[in-house]
Amino acid sequence: MNAKRCDATVAWAALQGHYQAHGRDLDLREAFARDPQRFNAFALQAPEVFADLSKNRWDLLTRKLLIELARETGLEARRDAMFAGEPINTTEGRAVLHTALRAPRGQALFSDEVHGVLDRLFDFAEAVRDTGSSGIRHVVNIGIGGSDLGPQMVVPALDAYAHPGITMHFVSNVDGHDITPVLRKLKPAQTLFIIASKTFTTQETMANAAVARQWFLDQGGTDIGRHFVGATTNLTAAAEFGIHTTFGFWDWVGGRYSLWSAVGLAIAIAVGSERFSELLAGAHAMDRHFADAPLEANLPVQLGLLDVWYRNFHHFTSRSVAPYHQGLKRLPAYLQQLEMESNGKQVSLDGQSLPYGTSPVVWGEPGTNGQHAYFQMLHQGTEVIPVEFIAVKHPSHPHLDLHAKALANCLAQSQALMLGKTTEAALAERAPTASATLGKLTVARHRSFPGNRPSTTLLLDKLTPRALGALIAMYEHRVFTSGAVWGINSFDQWGVELGKALAGNLLPRLTAAEVDGSGLDASTAGLLARLKA
Ligand code: F6P
Repeated sequence: MNAKRCDATVAWAALQGHYQAHGRDLDLREAFARDPQRFNAFALQAPEVFADLSKNRWDLLTRKLLIELARETGLEARRDAMFAGEPINTTEGRAVLHTALRAPRGQALFSDEVHGVLDRLFDFAEAVRDTGSSGIRHVVNIGIGGSDLGPQMVVPALDAYAHPGITMHFVSNVDGHDITPVLRKLKPAQTLFIIASKTFTTQETMANAAVARQWFLDQGGTDIGRHFVGATTNLTAAAEFGIHTTFGFWDWVGGRYSLWSAVGLAIAIAVGSERFSELLAGAHAMDRHFADAPLEANLPVQLGLLDVWYRNFHHFTSRSVAPYHQGLKRLPAYLQQLEMESNGKQVSLDGQSLPYGTSPVVWGEPGTNGQHAYFQMLHQGTEVIPVEFIAVKHPSHPHLDLHAKALANCLAQSQALMLGKTTEAALAERAPTASATLGKLTVARHRSFPGNRPSTTLLLDKLTPRALGALIAMYEHRVFTSGAVWGINSFDQWGVELGKALAGNLLPRLTAAEVDGSGLDASTAGLLARLKA
């Protein structure tokens, strides 16, 4: 691939000039006043997802230069290499083929393997869903990171399609406060445990699985082979644990890209194989869009490039996600792993330190809860934080009055962030709750909003399995885009290793009879001593 590092491209230099001349001071209110077509110019329809990108601090030239940046940094070649199964995860020598997991039969690499597992997984899920025969009323997914966040996000999002007689539980944390209240609700004969772990070695998951197995036996459970199943690439370790039913996947599926694989078993049980297939079909439609749409009309590409513009030129360090659909309550947590584990990197593909920022902090809560917590800071704080609103046109509940209120709030927040309120406008208003002893101008200054705060609004027609699949795939490819422009490996996660190794060293010191702080830094030794006192 004949790609240049982003900061060595012609487009990067042009973007720097453009930022100084126009970008930094672009005022959204003026931009809309100047161009009545601005909404249309920055509207994009991708499969299942409509995006309004017009309330962002960019103009047509910014977008053109960003697309040139994508071309100069070899985004298209890198994308094609991913779909072709080249080992683009260079530090682990692996292909990156989560797109193959959702391709129709015969249309992607490894199709026979993928559909072989899917067929078995669907048969199994349907058998569990036949609660009259299976007797299963509770399903517990034990996994962490990518083996937890995907199913844990999708299951509530598709609650409208969920099996009414099966309760889904998720246990991830090695802290026993996670599994203990879950076990309290269960009876062995009615429970299926899914041990989801790509490696089947992750400390948290193995520890919780062992607790679950012991609980099962202690409560008189008789058939571990029937009540524990595995979703893993490590079939040998699963067998050693006592699991006979395993659904495999492959090293070319990254943990945070694995909900489409056997790791999605909890989803397939919750919503059924037909709905799971629709989830895959939605993701596949977005894959085709990402692969085929010109960069100018390519939604994941546009979003990824906007992230680069904000991170490296505006120097915004975070992005807030505000889904106005309670079903998407775990989406911000899911996106944290997807984006920050993928793009939280400090060296280029060839190991050189990078002089520019990479992954922003991604965070958020569902609207309207976030409004009553941290939106104050988004509106009047000193940092500019781009916000991503997600609105769904048709609800999956009958309370249309509530739905209208949720949508009104969603639109109002992006409007308020952009429009702001001048001190003059605040002065002209009555402020009945303001202190009478403070000067009017002082009160007005407290009550004014700078505005010009950027946001994107994503619209779905309905939160169907297909739409959700497309939305998640859109995020995956957006992360791919910014990672490709930054020239980093978005598919490894060495940053989690050091803490794991140090915990391995500390664990015996915590369980030993004597305090042993030898060789530790003074802070860790002091904390250890207090914990053991
Ligand atoms: O947090 C590191 C990580 O390797 C993630 O990438 C992964 O999703 C998670 O741990 C769980 O790993 P496993 O599925 O192997 O248990």
